[in-house]
Formats: sequence, C-alpha cells, structure tokens
Amino acid sequence: MEAILLVGGQGTRLRPLTLTTPKPMLPLAGIPFITHQLLRARQAGVDHVVLATSYKAAMFRDHFGDGATLGLALSYAVEHEPLGTGGALRNATGHLRGDGPVIILNGDVLGGLDLVAMVDHHRHGAADVTLHLRRVPDPTAYGVVTTDRDGRVSAFDEKTDRPATDQVNAGTYVFSRAALQAIPPGRVVSVERETFPRLIGEGRRVLGLHDDAYWLDIGTPATYLRGNCDLVTGLAPSAALDATPADTLVLAGAEIGDGAELSGGTVVGHRTAVGAQAQLCRSVIFDDAAIGAGARLTDAVVGRGARIGAGAVVDGVMLGDRAEVPPGARLIGAVPVRG
Ligand code: GDD
Ligand code: MG
Repeated sequence: MEAILLVGGQGTRLRPLTLTTPKPMLPLAGIPFITHQLLRARQAGVDHVVLATSYKAAMFRDHFGDGATLGLALSYAVEHEPLGTGGALRNATGHLRGDGPVIILNGDVLGGLDLVAMVDHHRHGAADVTLHLRRVPDPTAYGVVTTDRDGRVSAFDEKTDRPATDQVNAGTYVFSRAALQAIPPGRVVSVERETFPRLIGEGRRVLGLHDDAYWLDIGTPATYLRGNCDLVTGLAPSAALDATPADTLVLAGAEIGDGAELSGGTVVGHRTAVGAQAQLCRSVIFDDAAIGAGARLTDAVVGRGARIGAGAVVDGVMLGDRAEVPPGARLIGAVPVRG
C-alpha cells in the first residue's frame, strides 16, 4: 500500500513558528507532526510514502531521510513553485511504485481514522475517489461535501459562506491511479476547487465515508495547542507515542524549578529551563527556551530558544523562535501572532 502526504503549504496561520519550520515539521508532543501520520499509515499496512514538498522542502529529507528509522520507504516529490494540492498530487504520482489505489493525507490532520476500512470501502464501492467526511459546528473553514442517500458525493464546495450542510472534507482520501493520472500535469491545480468538482460533474464515482474517531486539523494556533495537549493527555491517539497518558510531557534535558506547576497537557521542550514557582497550563514550550521564576503561561506557544522573564504573564499568545518577553510583562491575547 502506498500513500502521498501533502506537506508543501506555507502554514501562514501558524506564523511566526512556520517562518523557520514548515507546519508539518512543527513538534506535537515533542516530535515532528507528520511522524504521527507516517506511523499511523505504517500501522495500516502502508510501506511507501511520497512526501509532496515545496515550502522548506529540504527540512523533510534532512530529518526523515529514506524513512528507514520509521520502517517505511520515503520518497520526495519537490515542487519548485507550489503546484496547489492537486498539482502536488499529480507531481507525486511519478514517484509511486505500484498501480493500486493510493491513500492521500493532508499534512496537518491528527486523527484515528481507520485507513484499512477506508481502502476497503473504496475497493468494494469500485470508487474513483473516496473522501473521509466529518460533521463540524462551523463548516465555513472547510470543504463542504453534499452526499446522496447511498453515500455518493454530489457536490464539493470549498470554503463557502453559505454551506449547504455541516458535513465537511476531513482531508484524507483514497484515489484510484486513473483519477490521479487524470489531474493535468505541470500546472497549479486545487484538488478541492477543481479536481473534485470536475470528477463529480463527469459522473465519476466519488464516495464519502464517515468515521467519527478523533480528528483535528492542527493548522491554527488554537488547534495546534489543542492537538499537543490531546496527545499528552491521551485524548488523541498516536502510533508514534508509547508514553502513558499524563498531565504533562517534559522532554529530555529540561529542568523544572522547585514549586513549578505544569498542567493541562503542557509540553516542555528539550533542554528548556522552567523557573521556580512558574505555572504552565495548556502550553507548548519548544526546545532550548527559558521560562523565568514565577511566570504564568496559559494557552501559550513559546518558540525555540525564546526567553520569558520572571513573573511575566502570557495568556493566549503564540511567540516565535528566540522571542524575548521582559520580566513582569503582561501579554494577553486570543492566541495571536508575535515575533
Ligand atoms: N505539496 C503541496 N503543494 N502541498 C500543499 C500545497 C501545495 O501547493 N498547498 C497546500 N498544501 C498542503 C498543506 O501543507 C496541507 O498539508 C494540505 O495541503 C492542506 O492545506 P491547508 O492549507 O491545511 O488547507 P485547509 O486546512 O485550509 O483546507 C483543507 O483541509 C480541510 C480539512 O482540514 C482542504 O482540503 C479542505 O477541503 C478540508 O476541509
Ligand atoms: Mg489544514
């Protein structure tokens, strides 16, 4: 079984963190995000994954190499100019080794979807494409998917202000090889805005499959934080973690001062120092950072090598790599973006 992982986006909603690290390589529970996806795919019987890269492409190969340490074969399809989600798939097709159906994953989906069941559904339904579907409270940020009574997709409307249903594209697909080959090569194509509407218009068999296992797109500050905390506390499943669920994850080399309190799924990065009496709740601190004594962080993301002064209050704020917060400062936000 083969898969393509779409990892070429710019991750603009997660700036400034994504100015130095592409979104799919940001740490979740201490390891690059797509490690969770790659090991989930391996668990489902995938043995070869093509990473469709563009933005900061070299960082993926530098970290994962040929995939041997994960027990997978990895290939890299690099777009020198981003080709969009559909163009990326077409570009990655040339790297596939077999000719069976292919699992496609957006590179920011954390979840427990049963990939084996999804491929079975695709095969038994003789589908051209099968989409994983979810119901969400606010569908406007997603691809809105209308299905008929037997689960066949009749409309796909990407990011519409007037959603016809609360059923959305969850960002995992199975494509037949013919459907991949039918994407026009060598130009920008959006699978959501062009390929899906075209397949539906041509009367191809596009099927939807509901699966209500844990699911989260980690592509916004709030969901990036939630994904971390859910992995630590055991709410989100991962094939990449063998730690037992806990209230906090303290990575190797970190030092926690006397009386410091960590809660809510907080992650403290490698070699990071947390001062005495500091309080960290639902926060993610990257590697090599320093949190001053008595600082209070809630719903905060603190980039690599950043320094938070003693007694500072940071609430709902995302701070980039090497950010500096003076002692006693108060930064209160709704997880906005600061350099
Ligand atoms: N290789 C490559 N090239 N990858 C790309 C490109 C590109 O030009 N553009 C985006 N990607 C990758 C991103 O890195 C990400 O992993 C994935 O494609 C989806 O892009 P996002 O930017 O995260 O899209 P979204 O979250 O707004 O919407 C998508 O996901 C939703 C579910 O979370 C769409 O597929 C929606 O329809 C869907 O509902
Ligand atoms: Mg996304």
